[in-house]
Amino acid sequence: MGKNRINLSMPSLTDAKIRKKLGIEKIKYELDPKYKDLGKGKKYFILTYGCQGNEADSEVMAGILEEIGYEKAVDEKHADLVLLNTCCIRENAEVRIWGVLGQLKGRKRENPDMLVGICGCMPQEESATKKIIESYDVDIIFGTHNRQNLPKLIYQAYYTKAKVVEVISSQGNILEGSPKIRESKHKAWVNIMYGCDEFCTYCIVPYTRGRERSRAKEDIINEVEELVKEGYVEITLLGQNVNAYGKDLDTNYTFGDLLYDLDKTGIKRIRYTTSHPRDLDLKTMEAMRDCKSVMPHLHLPVQSGDNEVLKRMNRKYTYEIYMEKINKLKELVPGISITTDIIVGFPGETNEQFLNTLKLVKDADFEGAYTFIFSPREGTPAFKMVDNTTEEEKHERLEKLIDEVNKGYKKGNERFLNQEVEVLVDGESKYGKDMMCGYSKHLKLTHFKSADKSLVGKLVKVKITEVKTWFMIGDLVE
Ligand code: 5AD
Ligand code: SF4
Repeated sequence: MGKNRINLSMPSLTDAKIRKKLGIEKIKYELDPKYKDLGKGKKYFILTYGCQGNEADSEVMAGILEEIGYEKAVDEKHADLVLLNTCCIRENAEVRIWGVLGQLKGRKRENPDMLVGICGCMPQEESATKKIIESYDVDIIFGTHNRQNLPKLIYQAYYTKAKVVEVISSQGNILEGSPKIRESKHKAWVNIMYGCDEFCTYCIVPYTRGRERSRAKEDIINEVEELVKEGYVEITLLGQNVNAYGKDLDTNYTFGDLLYDLDKTGIKRIRYTTSHPRDLDLKTMEAMRDCKSVMPHLHLPVQSGDNEVLKRMNRKYTYEIYMEKINKLKELVPGISITTDIIVGFPGETNEQFLNTLKLVKDADFEGAYTFIFSPREGTPAFKMVDNTTEEEKHERLEKLIDEVNKGYKKGNERFLNQEVEVLVDGESKYGKDMMCGYSKHLKLTHFKSADKSLVGKLVKVKITEVKTWFMIGDLVE
């Protein structure tokens, strides 16, 4: 595209691999007064893709935009600034975003003053940033470590009319004190750490999100105490591997300790995601048993049930260790619901190895799983591994896996039939007229008859009368 370009920095895969012992910067967010009214009279809209980490980042960016005067538009068509917060975990996540970028091209033709920004994980990939610059009409390109510079980037894009690119591939920083506009008034994301040091061989995240770095416990506890004061009922602690919380701080204070401390804040419900089986320790399991506010659900991605595949994935545990951990957890937290992530068709996965995954799904009694076909990501070790399984075979494996997983979903819901469950009400339900919905403690989507909108954000009791594979239906207990 014929526009000038300001290259503040470009992504580098080589830099993204570096893990130093020191050098994580804690940034205290401060707005340069010169940007104070930059967005006055203008509207923004953020399109968010990918994981909860991206959702939480979008809340920070919304906070920053509103601080400089922007107001939220009803949709991207009515916005002066559209931000795409992107994901690149699998190829199809990217394909979607190329499609949206294509549509925005047309919209920019109709409204040349509209600014389009792309951020999040995709710009962290060298090849994606190159393609965005060359083929799309995007004004601002910035990475996961640059979000606090949003006012500066908008300012430059407005006043120079150039394409502004700022993507650093560093170990990352910890941003404190930024404004936030939370999507919900009763459920909140709370980042407890950023980045990932696991380097599973299929995964791009360690390159897009930087080094594993924990927020100070005081900052986390203060944030949760504030949320309690504001009337929040549920928090979800976020990190790529929350079980590694504190390992980088050299203080012996672990994720389990944090759960015990957060339980004392008075928040009613605590969830957390995502966990790594290797780092899930006894202290965390005991905290799940002891802390009333920690919900009886755990998302524990297993990825494969075959030890040789797990080794090549660099997962650092075996079938046996995984089963041992979840059995211990089931003993300590009776009735806990366990969900997982599974990849089929990892390079070189044989049918026999796939059958070991199916066996694990049965043995583990998962009550849900996100299932994926392996997607090669440039820059990761698995990208170069020999893969001679046909696409057809991979799809067959996925279907067999989904059949088994669905049995678990249904069975997981059936155990609540005729029982009373506690539901945090999210809002109106699309399931039927005058129905509301929310999630039970075990993270089961629950619909119930009521037209009372004042229930939103409240904990109610629902007696389950019917269950389906994906949700439960019940009556409000007065
Ligand atoms: N291909 C397929 N699935 C992947 N995941 C991560 N990387 C890939 C990949 N390259 C899955 C894992 C992870 C979830 C968030 O996405 O199962 O737990
Ligand atoms: Fe996607 Fe991973 Fe980035 Fe989340 S961290 S947005 S899952 S690539």
